[in-house]
Formats: sequence, structure tokens, C-alpha cells
Amino acid sequence: MFDKLKQRWGTNGLNLVLIIATFALGGSLCGYAGRKVLLLAGLEKGFLWIILYILLITLLWPVCVLIISIPLGQFSFFKRYLVKVWAKLSGGNNKNRQPAIRIAIFASGAGSNAAQIILATSPLLREKGEAKTKADGAQYSVALVVCNKQGAGVLQIAQKAGIPSLLIEKERFFNGDNYLPELVQHNIDFIVLAGFLWKMPSALVQAYSKKIINIHPALLPKYGGRGMYGNKVHEAVIAAKEKESGITIHYVDEIYDHGEIIFQATCGVAPNDTAASLAQKIHVLEHANYPRVIAELTKKQNRS
Ligand code: GAR
Repeated sequence: MFDKLKQRWGTNGLNLVLIIATFALGGSLCGYAGRKVLLLAGLEKGFLWIILYILLITLLWPVCVLIISIPLGQFSFFKRYLVKVWAKLSGGNNKNRQPAIRIAIFASGAGSNAAQIILATSPLLREKGEAKTKADGAQYSVALVVCNKQGAGVLQIAQKAGIPSLLIEKERFFNGDNYLPELVQHNIDFIVLAGFLWKMPSALVQAYSKKIINIHPALLPKYGGRGMYGNKVHEAVIAAKEKESGITIHYVDEIYDHGEIIFQATCGVAPNDTAASLAQKIHVLEHANYPRVIAELTKKQNRS
């Protein structure tokens, strides 16, 4: 049961204990405060007392839980939790009022895909013609850029766009807490890999089950797997004299380039293509499709 809760709330063991303690202490505080208010109003036990008590604790509960969450370091979790509860209670009919799905982009390199994913939700930049695609009605916002390479272009893109970034190191990513606390702290709902060259650790795959996607610069299941990234993929495609290559967007599971395929698009490979010219064609396909596919997936997630 605790493992399920950890996965559902995307948290680690210590935070789970603190969240449960917040629920318990917040509940007790609101019961205590409700009784005190009724006592001050001079109300005795009875039918009216029960009705008013239920009404009072319903109103006081969110406040008490938020107060307790501050010293226990769980404020952002409970803020997000209450927003979700409120969205459910208010029926969620009005799509414009639904909170945007907050995505984290994981990238290791230049970040041209990350840039397009960010630009696609900016009407202003679309008008200026900087975005290669539009993700109409997108219900996502890029809340965090995660990078494993100091000086990578994607970090400058994040800085320019005013998006917080996180530079991660190997030991903690693979053998520590996998930076899950930072993802929870930034209220991340969905993870997008855009040229991220490390394998995702099992704990993250489980915490974000069916909520992590990757883009691969070839038509999987061909030309995928460990060590197949960037120009290495294009060189292999050209060496095999393929007439066609393309892109694959897929869910991430615990095996390299293996999860369920969501979308593929193709382009021709000319006899005189080099890895660099093929990479250019692939980037055009990626920029035109990745933001659009993310918008569709996050819209579906918002509805569920
Ligand atoms: C993209 O072409 C992406 O498909 C590829 O890295 C490039 C990153 O470019 N990913 C892989 O090869 C993953 N196996 P970008 O930094 O300009 O977005």
C-alpha cells in the first residue's frame, strides 16, 4: 500500500511519512478548531451542533492542512493536492480553468527540440515565426529543464525562457534519490526526454508510469538501443543503405528505446545524404511533430 502511495504521489519514503503526518495533524487541528469556534459561539451539542461542526471542519480542513504542511516541508505537495481536489469537486467542465500539466524536459545537448516545445505554447513567439509548430489549445507548461551536461545549449535556452533548470550528477541520479524530490517540489506531472542520453532509472519510470516520453531519431525498433543516439543513428542508417528514416515518439520503460510507440513520421534518405544532412531532415520532422504530440498527450491526461 505504501509503495502504491509513493508512486501515486511521486514521493520518497521520508516525504510519504511527512505527508501522512500532515494529514493526521491537519485533521486533528481542524477538529480542535471547529469545536473551539462552536464553543465560543455558545452552541451546545445537538443536531444543529453536528451540522455546523461538519460544515466548519469542511471549511477549516484545507487551511489547517496547509498550515501544518509548512513546518513539515510539504506545502507545495498540499497546494497541488488541494488544487486537484478543487478541480475535481468543481466538475472540471471548463477546460480553460484546468491547471496546465507541468512538464519537465530532460535534455543533454543543443536543445533545439526543447526550444520548440517551449515556443509552441507561446502565442507571441509563434506570431514572430520562431516556432516551427503550433500546439493549439496546449494544456502544458514547461516548468523545469533537467540537464546532465554543464554548458549544454539547452541550459541557455531555459535561462532565456525564464524556466528553472537543474544540473544533475550521475551518482545521485542512478544510486541516490534520482532527483525525485526536486520533480515533486516543482509539481512535475509529465516528463519529456529531448536528446537526453542517460537511461531513466527504474524508480523514475515507476513514479511516472506512462508519463515519460522520448523522441528517437530513427524508425524504432530499428537503430535503437544503448549507444544509439544523434549522429551514430544516422551513420548506421546510411551504412545500411536505408531508403527511409524518420522519428519515433514512444513511452519510456526500463529498456532503452523500447516502450510503446506513440507516433512515427518518415523522410527519405538520398544516396548522397551524410549524417549531418540526414540529421537536418530529422530535426525538421521532430520540431514539427514533438510539441504537437506532447500537447495531445497532456490534453488527454488533463481529461483523465
Ligand atoms: C534529437 O535528434 C533526438 O532525437 C536525439 O538527440 C537529438 C537532440 O537534439 N535523441 C537521441 O538520439 C536519443 N536516443 P536537440 O538537442 O537539438 O533537441
